[in-house]
This record gives sequence, C-alpha cells and structure tokens, in this order.
Amino acid sequence: MNAVEVLKKEAGISACNYVKNGMKIGLGTGSTVKYTIIELGRRIVEENLEIIGVPTSEDTQKLAKSLGIPLSNLSEIDRLDLTIDGADEFDNNYDLIKGGGGALTREKIVALASNAMIVVADDRKKVSTLGQFPLPVEVHISNWENVKEHIEKLCTNEVSLRYDSEEPFVTDNGGYILDCNFGPIISDPYTLENKIKTIEGVVEVGLFVGICDLVIISSTSGVNILTKQNGRLS
Ligand code: 5RP
Repeated sequence: MNAVEVLKKEAGISACNYVKNGMKIGLGTGSTVKYTIIELGRRIVEENLEIIGVPTSEDTQKLAKSLGIPLSNLSEIDRLDLTIDGADEFDNNYDLIKGGGGALTREKIVALASNAMIVVADDRKKVSTLGQFPLPVEVHISNWENVKEHIEKLCTNEVSLRYDSEEPFVTDNGGYILDCNFGPIISDPYTLENKIKTIEGVVEVGLFVGICDLVIISSTSGVNILTKQNGRLS
C-alpha cells in the first residue's frame, strides 16, 4: 500500500469511532470513505455492530452489500444520525468541494438528511480557500451545452464536460458532470452555489456550505480531528 493509501485508510478507519450501535449512517463515496465502510463491515461481523447504512452511490451500495452492511434509503428513513464522506477540498470554515467521483447529488441529499457530517481526508485536501479543485456540477444531459454556456459567463477559466475514456461520464442519476475551474479561489462559495443552482438544467453543485461538522485529517504526523466550533459535533 503506498503512502497516500495508508493516510486514506487511517482517516477512514478513525471515523468509525463516531459510529454507535443503532445508528443510521450515510455512507459516502470515494477511495477514502471506502476504508470506513470496510471497517464498519468488519465491526458488524466481528463485534455485532448494529447499524443501517444509506449509500450515496451505486459503487458504495455494491461495496456495503458485499460486506453485509444492512442498507436502506431515504424513502424508508427520514433522518440519519450521521454521514461520513470524503471531499476533494475543505477549507477553514469546513466548507467543501465534492464530486470528484461524480456522486455529489446523492452525497448532498444524504448529508442534508443527516444530523451531522464527518469528512475523512488526507492532508492534501486541506486548503485555506476553496477553488483549486475544479468545481463539479451535475447537469441534465438534455441541456448541458446551455448550462455550460451560462457557467462560462460566471467562470473566467475552463468549464469542461467530464469524460470517461471516449464517452461523457454519466452519473448514477443519468446526468453529466461539468468540471468548472473557478480557481485559484472561490471567495464566496455560498453565493456561487446559489447562482449556479438558478441555471435551468443544473441538477446539483459540488459546493457543500455549512454542512460538514468535523474533519478527520491524516498526515504523516498522525490523525487529527478538526471540529467545527458551534457545529453539531462540538
Ligand atoms: C465523490 C466525492 C468524493 O468524496 C471525493 O471525490 C473524495 O474522494 P477520494 O476520497 O477518493 O479522494 O465527492 O463524488
């Protein structure tokens, strides 16, 4: 396992300390939270942990199912106790850019239905201001070119349709992803999110503002817990 993978694993596993018997847990998507999900599966088998997971993507659903994690969805469960997910960037306000894996829409729906959100990340994801990572925006496939033109008016850098080899990348919802380079900084993520959301054809924006309560960040010097002041886990 390479050094970055070790950091992802440490952060992912540490998040399981917040999971208690009987909880309903939003299960995020990506290569860091994968380790959280694997550890939860281990605890279910070896320690009789009782939880219900709500997956944020088809990939996560497949993984969780293969590990024997009981699953449900938001049609059956209104509120979740906690969501654990990765992020592409997080800043000092605990605001996030997500969607590097293309699952941002369900990730946001599940996070917003949760009483708290924990992000697991290695220290490459920490930034002072969001914006170096191109902002993923999910769009309806019938209207993506119009949406791209609208976003280009807001964005001085490149806006590109995400590809998966030769073909456009298609999300679990059947949408496309526009990767919008608003860098070097997004000075007002809340306003930008709301501006983009008003564009007809936008499904969801990968800015998570005021949603995350705690970040578990791993680096070569160890695992650190960053807790948002006045957040739901403080
Ligand atoms: C998927 C996401 C992921 O959480 C984000 O891309 C981080 O993934 P990883 O832990 O693999 O770096 O938002 O839509």
